[in-house]
Amino acid sequence: MFRIKKSSDMLPAIQRGKPVTIHVDGKPIEAYQGETVAAAMLAAGIRTFHKSHKQKQPRSLYCGMGICYECLVTINGVHAQRACITPVKQGMQIETCKELEL
Ligand code: FES
Repeated sequence: MFRIKKSSDMLPAIQRGKPVTIHVDGKPIEAYQGETVAAAMLAAGIRTFHKSHKQKQPRSLYCGMGICYECLVTINGVHAQRACITPVKQGMQIETCKELEL
């Protein structure tokens, strides 16, 4: 995945919030205020957010609006947070693929 760098002539200019850095599994990635954790992770090429409880299959963004719980990650040590509805904040620590106790 990637971020759109330039809008077309037919669309309004892209306006992003202030740049922030979050860490996903210890790796710093670029994000912008106003983005969700899921958007920043996908823009950085991270597609696996966690693994399914029984079969350990990779799970990622599905509904993108907080309904399906497919995008669960650990944020600042708090398990099972929905990445698709959580806005980024400077210095956030995200962990993927943790065993989730639901
Ligand atoms: S993608 Fe469905 S709850 Fe996040």
